[in-house]
Amino acid sequence: MMVPLANSGFLELIEVAFSYPGNEFSLQGINQHFQQGEFTAIIGANGTGKTTLGKLLAGIIKPEQGQVLIAGRDSREISLGQVGKLIGYLFQQPDRQLFTPTVREEIGFALEFNGSSPEVIKKKVNDMLDIFSLADLAGAAPYQLSAGEKQRLALAALLVNQPQFLILDEPTTGLDPVRKQKLAEVLKELQGKGIGLVVISHDLSFIRSNADRVLVMAGGGLIAA
Ligand SMILES: Nc1ncnc2c1ncn2[C@@H]1O[C@H](COP(=O)(O)OP(=O)(O)OP(=O)(O)O)[C@@H](O)[C@H]1O
Ligand SMILES: [Mg+2]
Repeated sequence: MMVPLANSGFLELIEVAFSYPGNEFSLQGINQHFQQGEFTAIIGANGTGKTTLGKLLAGIIKPEQGQVLIAGRDSREISLGQVGKLIGYLFQQPDRQLFTPTVREEIGFALEFNGSSPEVIKKKVNDMLDIFSLADLAGAAPYQLSAGEKQRLALAALLVNQPQFLILDEPTTGLDPVRKQKLAEVLKELQGKGIGLVVISHDLSFIRSNADRVLVMAGGGLIAA
């Protein structure tokens, strides 16, 4: 189905239900739109399903009932490769998305994969190393980085691809106050360029200073704060 709905969001949840086999947890009847240029925070207690919702929005898992629309396309009908061109997704444990021998290669990987020229790759990677204060670590092995450095590297590797929408699961984990402020500035700038943001977080002061709206996960549903 390729028909974008009138007044539709870039990401849409329509009567979404989801559960995992073998446990009691479930999400039900979730309806929500996420627009470009908007910063939406999702908060809620541990185990309420925030990460699950983020994965549904990123097309990593598919709803049991209802639909997730990504740029107007059903998440069941769009490949992860296609989603990856539209959406940047930061895992709650960024270790899971770091896999190259060096920091520099990690940031350049997707550009390399897409056939960008060496000059373009160098320029874009250097910009990211700069923005996320990783230049001194360009030759380091990602697995040896500190938690906050890994978090910044995972963000850099996402943003270098210029996604149209970002889903960030606990992006401030491990960041010191200076790096957190820098991240807030980077996200504001992206938002100004029309990029949509869904930020899952327990960091209420970060949310309060940056989000346009706050949604709460509770009781298997998503409600306005
Ligand atoms: N792959 C999985 N298989 C089975 N159950 C899972 C799986 N992932 C998560 N769950 C269960 O689903 C529920 C929601 O988990 P989820 O990770 O979405 O919560 P969360 O709100 O992100 O929590 P936190 O604040 O701790 O990150 C939990 O009860 C969890 O145990
Ligand atoms: Mg989580």
